[in-house]
Amino acid sequence: QIFSDANQASAAVARELAELIRLKQATGDLAVLGLATGSTPKKVYAELVRMHRQNGLSFSNVVTFNLDEYYWIEPDARQSYHRFMHEHLFSQVDIKPENVHIPDGTLAIENVRAYCHAYESAIAQQGGLDFQLLGIGRNGHIGFNEPGSPLQSRTRLITLDGLTRADASADFNGLVHVPRRAITMGVQTILEARRVVLLAWGEHKAAIVQRAVEGLVTESLPASYLQNHPNATFVVDEACASEL
Ligand code: GLP
Repeated sequence: QIFSDANQASAAVARELAELIRLKQATGDLAVLGLATGSTPKKVYAELVRMHRQNGLSFSNVVTFNLDEYYWIEPDARQSYHRFMHEHLFSQVDIKPENVHIPDGTLAIENVRAYCHAYESAIAQQGGLDFQLLGIGRNGHIGFNEPGSPLQSRTRLITLDGLTRADASADFNGLVHVPRRAITMGVQTILEARRVVLLAWGEHKAAIVQRAVEGLVTESLPASYLQNHPNATFVVDEACASEL
């Protein structure tokens, strides 16, 4: 789906999310959302906050699971995804704190495996994800499922790709400060969501989006797995669609 710009596209995605939340409210159910960080989804979150303030959109029936977090990182570090989500969404809406799930970047290494297993169980306990929001890395990663991530992968500790760390280095004031690992939901976790929307803006993402949408489905480009999802949409602006 190609929009003239990121504002229009973000507003459309926020409307779809609001509709899902309201539909679930009407039947007394929870809306289970998989959420992403990065610069790309910021406008979607801003639009949801606006709808909360101006249109009375309530998040009281929303449960969220974030895709990923750096490992090791303090939750209040400037670059942490905990902090990002609280700043851009959670602190500004009426979501219940107990309904928010973000992978813990502070675990002792011996506890990571059990923690990841429990994260998967918590998603399953909610009946799976109704909606998964995604961005895309310049190497085709989704969440932090870097090239080489298998189709069957689940929530786990991964080693970050060189390009991913380089792209994050400005945020961390230099490559040496970028964590080497992260906890991410797996490819299979993402593909089990009933609806998947991947956002991408700008010319710098055009080449990877073209390969993800039109190229071979391959583990060397994890976003290409979405070609086989029954209800996945790439939402892009015109600049990002320039190579399609
Ligand atoms: C990080 C996140 C991804 C995100 C990607 C793109 O690697 N883990 O979930 O999609 O960055 O970031 P941006 O949206 O800033 O381009």
